[in-house]
Amino acid sequence: MDGAVQKPKGPQDRLADWLAEDMIAVNRLIRERMASEHAPRIPEVTAHLVEAGGKRLRPLLTLAAARICGYDGPYHVHLAATVEFIHTATLLHDDVVDESQRRRGRPTANLLWDNKSSVLVGDYLFSRSFQLMVETGSLRVMDILANASATIAEGEVLQLTAAQDLRTDERVYLQVVRGKTAALFSAATEVGGVIAGADEAVVRALFDYGDALGVAFQIVDDLLDYGGTDAAIGKNTGDDFRERKLTLPVIKAVAGASAEERAFWVRVIEKGDQREGDLAQAQAIMARHGSMTAARDDALAWVAKARAALERVPEHPLRDMLADLADYVVARVN
Ligand code: IPE
Ligand code: IPE
Ligand code: MG
Ligand code: MG
Repeated sequence: MDGAVQKPKGPQDRLADWLAEDMIAVNRLIRERMASEHAPRIPEVTAHLVEAGGKRLRPLLTLAAARICGYDGPYHVHLAATVEFIHTATLLHDDVVDESQRRRGRPTANLLWDNKSSVLVGDYLFSRSFQLMVETGSLRVMDILANASATIAEGEVLQLTAAQDLRTDERVYLQVVRGKTAALFSAATEVGGVIAGADEAVVRALFDYGDALGVAFQIVDDLLDYGGTDAAIGKNTGDDFRERKLTLPVIKAVAGASAEERAFWVRVIEKGDQREGDLAQAQAIMARHGSMTAARDDALAWVAKARAALERVPEHPLRDMLADLADYVVARVN
């Protein structure tokens, strides 16, 4: 592992290297459980999405948390697969809701097949995730993951009513993000600690790390929707604007808008009357107000919280990688 030094690896690669054996087991379990003998559409859709990869960030968090806490049983693998299944199910549903056309560098399942397939296969993956977590025999982890699933759905539904509404403020945005994204990050780290039987204070610290990391991650995801490139993120940029979402940089720009700018936001976000050049106009307004930079600064503040939470976690090389991962989620381009 520490042979010839090539290009410096990022924290995610270092985590993946350290946890390579566990990840092989996780991927094997995912492959086994994503299949179905009875409905051929299921393996078609799941293979399309799963084989495209994805960063596998959430299972790495679970594995790392469990290992840091000294776990050496088999169930961290089940839990890592569980969180990736929950994640994949939400992606299938999310792309229907957002009418997205690209995911992980490929056409979305809703585009290649249809909305019905995406919704139903998403439901199937959710159910498979419940089966996997039951195998751990731990009521506590089932409680955490069942709660996280409900909270994710809540966040997505809250976002539905917060979109297209210029009164949506940073408080509501944070509530949405904590629900739809951070809930799974924090559950991923928390169950790692719980399955290892870690002290309550450590479990709490792992939860706090996942929560803050998840918020930072989603803020950056929202920035990339305006400032990234399709090729790098493997999704189409501009989806949030088209869906008239009040993401953090937009909320900041709306808060400081002149009368003329406000009329623009009312037209494109509230009325949904979007014309050629409006996305560029929105970007120009946000640049004028420094909204992207301000949102990035907020993400950095969440990174600092994530790092601080790790100080309450036992020392371990994996802990240092998790700390570096927090910086990486803000620097990331995909
Ligand atoms: C996408 O998550 C959904 C969000 C919370 C923004 P990821 O960016 O982790 O998706 P994959 O698994 O790497 O494709
Ligand atoms: C991410 O939602 C959270 C879930 C999938 C539950 P987004 O809609 O913001 O994420 P992307 O940009 O489609 O990945
Ligand atoms: Mg989406
Ligand atoms: Mg969405």
